Amino acid sequence: MVSVGIISDIHSNFFALEIVLEYLRDKIDALICAGDFVGYGFQPKECLEAIMDYSLPTYNCLGNHDVGVRYEYCQQFEQESCKDDLKLFSMEEVRPAAKSMFSQNAKGISESQYHFLEELPFFQEFGLGKKTFHLTHGTPSKKERDNIVRYLPAPPIQPLRQTIDRAHQFSGTKDVDIIIVGHTHQRFYINRDRVQGWSHIGERYSNASVSYPKVFKFPRDQIILNPGAIGQPRDGNPAASFMILDIDTSTVTFHALEYSRKEFYSQARDKCPPSIQDPSFWEIKI
Ligand SMILES: [Fe+2]
Repeated sequence: MVSVGIISDIHSNFFALEIVLEYLRDKIDALICAGDFVGYGFQPKECLEAIMDYSLPTYNCLGNHDVGVRYEYCQQFEQESCKDDLKLFSMEEVRPAAKSMFSQNAKGISESQYHFLEELPFFQEFGLGKKTFHLTHGTPSKKERDNIVRYLPAPPIQPLRQTIDRAHQFSGTKDVDIIIVGHTHQRFYINRDRVQGWSHIGERYSNASVSYPKVFKFPRDQIILNPGAIGQPRDGNPAASFMILDIDTSTVTFHALEYSRKEFYSQARDKCPPSIQDPSFWEIKI
């Protein structure tokens, strides 16, 4: 085991996912996805198909939008099994446009894709090479809701020490080498031992220009990673955001890959509600 692709927050944007998976082809030995496969975008079927049929080992977890889409699927097709989803969050917390895409995505997925969403774990721990991993969408926690809803932001959104302490609240995460989260749609790298970190948004706040690929080495340190979003980055760079982790050399490389955004927006105009059609929804600049 040498290289792992780490992605998150695909959000039914196959235009972006396809380019990233094509780039990763022949470069990785496994794929990790930190949740939110669906929601917002109009290509849930294509995105789930690509992940479910992926030719290498994959490690996935549940995102809040995955819960929203599977809940709507239950409603539409009278499945029994996901009644408990309403205990995770109330649909009143969800913006109307996002909610309407839950419903539209649910109509567009197959039964086996619904079961894939249904079986996603709140978190999972595993080992790859000599490293141990804890993977969750939101924040590591014994509360199920925190795993899918609670943000774990990095500086400058939240002080570094606070981010590390929050990540360590869940028993066991102190001991794992690599904690992986998504949900904020903002890429970052945090060295827990040295209480140091880097985020794209932090660079922007200091008016530095960031170019990709961007590489960090962590030979003996424990870290937290957020790969940013494939489908809807929220840190000012609209290109699809992801990372490759080289386990043998303890190196993480952040990537930002352009995709056919014009074509994606043009199709979104026909397929999404008004507030999601606008490019500004997909290119959030903080
Ligand atoms: Fe998300």
